[in-house]
Amino acid sequence: MTLPIYVLNGPTLNLLGTREPEIYGSMTLADIEQAVTAHAKTLGLKIVFRQSNHEGELVDWIQEARTKASGLIINAAAYSHTSVAILDALRTVEKPIIEVHLSNLFRREPYRRHSYVTDAATGLICGLKDTGYLLAVDAIARLIKVKTK
Ligand code: DQA
Repeated sequence: MTLPIYVLNGPTLNLLGTREPEIYGSMTLADIEQAVTAHAKTLGLKIVFRQSNHEGELVDWIQEARTKASGLIINAAAYSHTSVAILDALRTVEKPIIEVHLSNLFRREPYRRHSYVTDAATGLICGLKDTGYLLAVDAIARLIKVKTK
């Protein structure tokens, strides 16, 4: 049986829907979870979807994904730009890792153009709002070679 895909979300993504909707879209994180879970189901895959405002908790979940996930989708939010701890944890995950950002980092402030997560990610999707999460599921499905319909 294929292990679930872990989808980990970093700080302040719990406020999606009301947080700067012109940048991040109007969907809540619960809406995104529902869409990702439904999409994964059509591919025969399960999702473990989590959010934390705490760096260490994200590190713990990344370590958990080493043995319990078939792949990892991560939007580390602001920690993307600051956290060597998250990078080091990601480097221990020998599974496909897709970095997702709702907004296009390269059209925003210069300090958002560098992400530590990218150093460990298989691929990066940014600027497509919630659609990025669905494409990340497709990417992992292909990378782990689950047959898509
Ligand atoms: C974000 C982009 C980050 O720069 C920002 O700190 C976030 C959200 C995104 O999804 O576009 O919190 O990761």
